[in-house]
Amino acid sequence: MCGIIGLVSKKEVSSTLVEGLKRLEYRGYDSSGIATISNEKIERVRSKGNLKFLEEKLLSTSLPGNIGIGHTRWATHGTPEEKNAHPHITDKVAVVHNGIIENNNQLRNQLIEAGTKFASDTDTEVVCHIITSYINSGLSAYDSIRASINDIRGTYAFGVLIASEPNKLFAVRGGSPIAIGSADEENYIGSDTYSLSAYSDNITYLKDGDIAIIENKSYEIFDQSNSLVEREKQSIIESVTLSEKGIFKHFMSKEIHEQPEVIAKSLSNYIDMDNSLLCVPDLPYDLSTISNVTLVACGSSYYAGLIARDWFEKFTNVKVDVEIASEFRYREPPMDSNGLTIFISQSGETADTLAALKHCKSLGQKTISIVNVGDSSMCRNSHASLKIFAGPEIGVASTKAFTCQLIVLACLAIKIGRLNGSLNKDQEKDYVKSLLSIPRLISNTLDKEDEIVKLAHDLSNITTTLYLGRGQMYPVAMEGALKLKEISYVHAEGYPAGEMKHGPIALLERDLPVFMMAPSNTLYEKTVSNLNEVIARDASVILLTDEKGLENIGYLKDKIKTFLVDETDIISAPFVYTLPNQLIAYHIALLKGTDVDQPRNLAKSVTVE
Ligand code: M6R
Repeated sequence: MCGIIGLVSKKEVSSTLVEGLKRLEYRGYDSSGIATISNEKIERVRSKGNLKFLEEKLLSTSLPGNIGIGHTRWATHGTPEEKNAHPHITDKVAVVHNGIIENNNQLRNQLIEAGTKFASDTDTEVVCHIITSYINSGLSAYDSIRASINDIRGTYAFGVLIASEPNKLFAVRGGSPIAIGSADEENYIGSDTYSLSAYSDNITYLKDGDIAIIENKSYEIFDQSNSLVEREKQSIIESVTLSEKGIFKHFMSKEIHEQPEVIAKSLSNYIDMDNSLLCVPDLPYDLSTISNVTLVACGSSYYAGLIARDWFEKFTNVKVDVEIASEFRYREPPMDSNGLTIFISQSGETADTLAALKHCKSLGQKTISIVNVGDSSMCRNSHASLKIFAGPEIGVASTKAFTCQLIVLACLAIKIGRLNGSLNKDQEKDYVKSLLSIPRLISNTLDKEDEIVKLAHDLSNITTTLYLGRGQMYPVAMEGALKLKEISYVHAEGYPAGEMKHGPIALLERDLPVFMMAPSNTLYEKTVSNLNEVIARDASVILLTDEKGLENIGYLKDKIKTFLVDETDIISAPFVYTLPNQLIAYHIALLKGTDVDQPRNLAKSVTVE
C-alpha cells in the first residue's frame, strides 16, 4: 500500500528518492512520483505504473534540489493514472500521503466554492490546498500544517514540502506509520524500517498527532498538544536487506523455499531445544485463568487463526472465537472481561486489525499481537507481542509468514494449556517433538516440487476450482484457494468438504478441478465420502494425502490424481498440506505469466479500511 520516502541533505536527492521508492515497491503500488525544492520552487515528476516509467521520465527531466519527497501510490480515491499520482502540489506546497481523508468530500466542496481548482480526484490534494490557504493567510509553514490537521478527519501519514522553507522537511502522523531515520548530515522520512534501513542505522517512529520538522543535521518532534517531545530512537538491528532473489525467479518462490529454515528459526525462539520444552516468554498478565480466546486478523492471517482455533480448543479447553477484523470491529460483540484477544498480522499495520486491537484494549481485554514486523504499530499498541521471525516477506502473497504465524500460535496454545492445567508435561513434550519435525516434513514436500510442476502444466488452463477439506484442512483449503486467486487470477473457492453437498456441489461438472486435502486422521473416512461425491460427478480430483490415505482409498486411486505427503498429526498437518498448495499456486501463476510478486490490485500492507 502507499509508501512514503523523504530526504533532506546537502547533496542532490532525486536519485536517492527513486532508490527509496524501490524499497517501497513490495508494498504494492500503481503509480509513483517525486518532488523537490530548487530555488524556492517546487518541481515534480510523476508516472503511472511501474517505477521504471518514472525513471525513464527522469532521464529527460532533471529534478534538482537537496530536499524532496517521493511516493508509491495504491489507489483509493481516483483511478491509477498520472494526474492522481503523488506528490500533489500547489505553487507553495507538495504533499505525499498514506491513508484516507474521510471528510474529503465536504472539504473539497468547501474549497471548490471558495474558487480552488482541483487537478486530481484524490483526497490528498484537498490537504495540499488547505495547507496552501493557511500559508496564504500568513501562518508559518509549521502552523499551517498544524491548522490543516485540525480540519481533516481520517488516517494519514504525510510528508510535506513548503517552497518558502527549502531546508525543512515536514512529517505528520495520524494513524498511518511514518518514521525518521538519521544519517551523516542528512535525515530521512519513510513508511517503514525497510525503506529507511539502506540509509540509516536508527529509526524514530512518530506517534499519532506528532508533527516533525526535519533539517539535514537535526529534527524536532511536536506532539498533539504542540509540545516539543523526544521519541525513542531505536537501532535497526535486524538485517532488513531484501536480499537478492538468488537462484529464484520470484521472491514468492524464494520465500516458499525458505520455510524449513525460517520455521526452524522461529521454533528456536520459542523452544528450549535441550529439554524439548517450550520457552515462550511470560506475558504481562496471568494466562492461567483466562476465560476465552479471541483471534482477530485479515486474509491469510485470519486463516492462520482458524487453524489455530483447533489447537487452542484442544489444548486449553477455553472457548475460542476467530474474527475477521473488518467485520469484528464494527460488530462490537460483547467481550468477556477476562478474555485474551490475539491479533495476527504479518505487517503489524493492517488498518482493520489495528483498529480492532485498539477497540479491544479500550474494552479492557488482555491483548497480544503476533507479528512479523517487530516495530510495527500492532507491536507497539498491544500489551504483549510475539514475533514470528519469518524475516522480510516481499512477495505480496503470504507464504513463510503464514507458516511462521502457525508456529507461534501452536506454541502459545500449548503454553496456555500447560498454565491452566489442561496439558501435562508429557503432552507438551509430544507436541514440541511434533513442532520440531516440521522443517524436515516441509523439506520433504519441497523435494517433490517436480511433481507439482507437472500438475501445474496439466492445470494451466483452468478457470475455476474448488479446494475442499475438513477440520483444520478447511482453513488450509481456503488458504490454498486464496493463494491461487491472488497470484494467478483463477477463481478458486475453499469450502468445508462436508458442506459441499449443501450448495457448491451444483458447480461440479466434468473435469472441474477439485483439490481435496485428506490426511489419514479421524476425519479421513468422512472426507473420502465427500471425495466419492465429487468423483461421481466426473470432476477431476487432485487428492493430497499420505501413504496410508492412498492405500485406504482402494480402487478410487485410478480415477484421480494424487500428491503424497508425509504422515502428519494435529500439529504438523496444516503445515504439510499448505506447502503443496503454495507451490501449485506459484507454478500455475508462472505458466500464466502473471506478476507473481506484485499481483494486480493487491498491496502487501493494507493500511486503509
Ligand atoms: O499483514 P497482515 O498479515 O495483517 O495482512 C493481512 C492480509 O492482507 C494478508 O494476509 C493478505 O491476505 C495476503 N495477501 C495473503 O496472501
